[in-house]
Amino acid sequence: MADAKYRTPKGTNDVLPEDHQYQTYIKKAVRHRCRQAGFKRIDTPIFEKTEVFERGIGSHTDIVEKELFMVGSHHRDPDEGDFALRPELTAGICRAYIEHAMHMLPQPVEFYAIGPCFRHDRPQKGRYRQFHQFDLEVIGLSDPSLDAQLIHVINKIFGDLKIRDQLTMQMNNIGSADNRKAYVAALKDYFIGKERNLPELDRSRLTTNPLRLLDSKEEDTQILLKKAPTLAQFIDDASKTYHETVLEYLNELGAEFEENPGLVRGLDYYNQTVFEYWDIKTRGKNAVGGGGRYDPLIEMLGGQPTPGIGFAGGIERIIWQMKEAGIKVPNKDQVDVFVAQLGPDAKKKCLKLISQLRDLGVHTLGALGEASLKSQMRLADKFEARYTLLLGQMEVKSGSIILRDMQAGKQKEMKFEEAIPAVTKLLGESKLDTYTMKDHFSEQDED
Ligand code: HAM
Repeated sequence: MADAKYRTPKGTNDVLPEDHQYQTYIKKAVRHRCRQAGFKRIDTPIFEKTEVFERGIGSHTDIVEKELFMVGSHHRDPDEGDFALRPELTAGICRAYIEHAMHMLPQPVEFYAIGPCFRHDRPQKGRYRQFHQFDLEVIGLSDPSLDAQLIHVINKIFGDLKIRDQLTMQMNNIGSADNRKAYVAALKDYFIGKERNLPELDRSRLTTNPLRLLDSKEEDTQILLKKAPTLAQFIDDASKTYHETVLEYLNELGAEFEENPGLVRGLDYYNQTVFEYWDIKTRGKNAVGGGGRYDPLIEMLGGQPTPGIGFAGGIERIIWQMKEAGIKVPNKDQVDVFVAQLGPDAKKKCLKLISQLRDLGVHTLGALGEASLKSQMRLADKFEARYTLLLGQMEVKSGSIILRDMQAGKQKEMKFEEAIPAVTKLLGESKLDTYTMKDHFSEQDED
């Protein structure tokens, strides 16, 4: 490993089988809770015209300004324009809503998506260049009950994953675009004559995206902000009422939240409700998920004015939270049976046996190589197989087979035909990994 010539690109990770157990578990919770609430699965391409992200997320956000991964095809066909890997899923889903005229469907249209996203960030713990999000979007209607219901579904997912208690949900309402325009003007006024005291980056933000000053990490900026006008002073009455109704509905659902007037989020498409889930210990450092209402977005992308609200959770950060809390997920890759054989006849005979066991839902390995029975047993041990079936030349001749319980270290000879019923009985019906098309469509093996 240490002397590997090629490694994963900076900021990316191989999802090894152990982490897949977590990913599968998380996806299962997402799929169940989403389907229960009427969400349907959507997948959009992992790259889009750069404009889709520039217009939606905003040209002066970190995500677009600094972190887009450009996809180089323009040098082949300049007329095609620029493409970028998706830094998030919302903009692509809204592009799809417009492209497929989904305003014709009964509204709201509710989608969920799970997949990789790309941000050319400086990699550090919990911050990767390729990471995975699960994403929920509710498009076509604006109603405080939708905001509350969406949050409730997310709470259920985090509850199923047993991490809701480790998280705090931060809530704010950032008003309408007009409210923020008025506020930005006031903020700029306030900073007239004070620019020199701002660190360079924040000075340029004052012209490009002043709201970003609010979550600046710079101490000088934070000190200056103490006396600055606040966004809350510019929120109109309709937004305030909307917010209060969302909170009332959340209380009705028993959903816990902390009001946070400083929460603004890093993407431009938001208005009204915004929220984030934070680790209770590290707070805003590595949010586990975030979302909000984005009523202006679809129009920004060229569609009819259409409201929407959504959320995305970061799967790597969720896995981290689960591991921190000592939450183990079921291991679906365990080996139930190892079939050891000796001699050409035995090897041939056990091929069918292996196939039949697999069809019954028994995780089975075997017919590997020509080594002695003893070394095959050692291999079975290394694979942590629960049972081994041994078929040597003698057994082939007498029509028998040996079944060994690897943990108990006990074994029993039986008729060859008895092996399958014996194994399935020992494992128990509920442990069998059966596969039917019905299961396939309802939950198993989905990506
Ligand atoms: P976001 O806050 O930019 O929102 O990202 C959502 C979550 O993705 C974050 O809370 C974090 O858990 C995870 N995440 C983001 N960047 C990284 C990274 N570099 N490495 C690891 N995890 C990361 C959005 O993306 C919005 N599209 C959410 C939304 C959906 N709003 C409305 N609908």
